[in-house]
Amino acid sequence: MGSSRKFLIAGNWKMNKTGAEAIELASDLNALVTKNKNVDIVICPPFTALADLSKLPISKIRLGSQNFHPAANGAFTGEISAEMLKELHVEYVIIGHSERREYFGETDKFVNEKVISAIANGLIPIMCVGETIQQRDANETFDVIKQQITAGLTNIDKISAEKIVIAYEPIWAIGTGKTATPELAQEVHAFIRELLSKIFGPEISKKIKILYGGSMKPENARDLLNKHDIDGGLIGGASLKADSFNAIIAATNIL
Ligand code: PGA
Repeated sequence: MGSSRKFLIAGNWKMNKTGAEAIELASDLNALVTKNKNVDIVICPPFTALADLSKLPISKIRLGSQNFHPAANGAFTGEISAEMLKELHVEYVIIGHSERREYFGETDKFVNEKVISAIANGLIPIMCVGETIQQRDANETFDVIKQQITAGLTNIDKISAEKIVIAYEPIWAIGTGKTATPELAQEVHAFIRELLSKIFGPEISKKIKILYGGSMKPENARDLLNKHDIDGGLIGGASLKADSFNAIIAATNIL
């Protein structure tokens, strides 16, 4: 990781953990993590667990949401607003995860609306981008990433851009056990940083965190996090157990 940035390790629990299980996991994790000024720790549980977790004394962990709706309120059955999340002390929100793009039809335009709304509401967006295996095999990775980044960050000013977090998650690596090699991930992260530099200028681009996601686990975390443009991880499977998630967090200690 570049020296001017702080690590961010975020757990994406997806549709896992009941309220009671969430309390247990978050409490176990909070007890395990040791203080380290160089890393922010975030968990993104299902909506149903957020209210309970917001009342837990888990001071070392910040709360994030897996999704939200960009409108302030209204007739959007099944959706949750930024204001509802902030009432529960949620600080981060995952936007445009590939599962939402693929299974729930989220477009780059909707992703962009959410990024704008998150910033306007004081939530930190974690905007996800990533290519499919077909796109990678067809040498389209950089085109796909460029399209997702430029469309997702349309109409974002420089001051707001600093707060945005990008997660590079190659779809072929999510939940498959197949991790991108550190070199391959770094190549795309460097490309994203260069794009951000073109859009917002070099100074701002150095401040934006770019996380890697896709089968990050204790065994590979250190080598990935050691790369210059990898500033943390968005972790699915390995965030569902306190010891494996903590081992990934601990990898930031020795870097
Ligand atoms: P995984 O998921 O760590 O289970 O591959 C990552 C993600 O989808 O955010």
